[in-house]
Amino acid sequence: MKGAIFDLDGVIVDTAKYHYLAWREIAKELGFDFHKSDNERLKGVSRMASLEILLEVGGIKGLSDNEKANIAEKKNQRYVQMLADLDEDEMLPGAKDYLHKLKGEGVKIALGSASKNSPLILEKLKIADLFDAVVDGNSVQKAKPDPEVFLKAAEALKLKPDECCVFEDSQAGIDAALKGGFHTVAVDKDGVLYGYEKRVACLGDLLY
Ligand code: BG6
Ligand code: MG
Repeated sequence: MKGAIFDLDGVIVDTAKYHYLAWREIAKELGFDFHKSDNERLKGVSRMASLEILLEVGGIKGLSDNEKANIAEKKNQRYVQMLADLDEDEMLPGAKDYLHKLKGEGVKIALGSASKNSPLILEKLKIADLFDAVVDGNSVQKAKPDPEVFLKAAEALKLKPDECCVFEDSQAGIDAALKGGFHTVAVDKDGVLYGYEKRVACLGDLLY
């Protein structure tokens, strides 16, 4: 492995729970319950695509683009509020040590995340300087499971896909990595993902 491309939410930091809580509040206001089992489909998926899935779950049809944009904005405001106190303590087990280990071994490191909040989160976690490249929701057109985000990350590292490993906690992300020709590690405590080459419960499992 010459390059390591990390998803952010659910791989490096435990923010997936805040995405879920913020969407659940929005669902409540729209008049339906949003359960954890449905939430799996939102992981790795862009903000607007997540909203479409949420509306489908709630059976809500016929909203205008403007109404959808307002709902997505409201969800993001709630989510960002929830991140106010985010710090290194909410990094997932072993994530920081694994990033340092790879850095020490000369492996190039990139972020490949759907989130437009990535810069804020990397700054709060004080890990921005560990990344040789950051590709996120602000710089891609096509959301996972399209491989664009990972292909751009590999290009930024000047590496070919098969020289890089993608670390992902979502099925959309695993599918994107496979389509792009990358090696894959699923960060999947509960064993819900499929198609990957290797599975770990957290990045800490790769330390020794
Ligand atoms: C992904 C999350 O990392 O980012 C998704 O897994 C989320 O749940 C997506 O919808 C977009 O995030 P943001 O921060 O731009 O709304
Ligand atoms: Mg994720």
